[in-house]
Amino acid sequence: MGAILLVNGPNLGILGQREPDVYGTDTLHDIERAVAEEVAERGWEVVSVQRDSEGELVRAIQDNYDTVGAIVNPGALMIAGWSLRDALANYPRPWIEVHLSNVWAREQFRHESVIAPLASGVVVGLGALGYRLGARALLALSRPVPRIASWKE
Ligand code: DQA
Repeated sequence: MGAILLVNGPNLGILGQREPDVYGTDTLHDIERAVAEEVAERGWEVVSVQRDSEGELVRAIQDNYDTVGAIVNPGALMIAGWSLRDALANYPRPWIEVHLSNVWAREQFRHESVIAPLASGVVVGLGALGYRLGARALLALSRPVPRIASWKE
């Protein structure tokens, strides 16, 4: 048993109502449920944290080192969230960066992510499906160690 950490940054608490043509109509609750569905096969739960301020996200990451991996949508903190970046640098498990929209097809200021170089992988532009894919990636990256048959068997 373990738990996966789902981190969403500023303005992602209002998904569903926020620019639906860009971010889709799924709510954060829908996304939490989808991630929970994906990881249920491993018996993982989901610890979901959405905060609009960077310091609170940093604290949430520090408080959840015992999770098995994380999915992180930093929102606009991708652009200059240096303390979020430093918090993730000390997070001890694999984590995946997710963006609902294709940030590279958008304004220039969204083309750089200060956290991406530290991520195990990045999923961009696939809407809410990206969170499911992030969860699947974590399942693959955290495969249980196969049990070695003992000499008695
Ligand atoms: C976002 C992309 C960011 O540029 C933007 O600031 C967001 C959402 C996405 O999921 O597409 O808040 O992270």
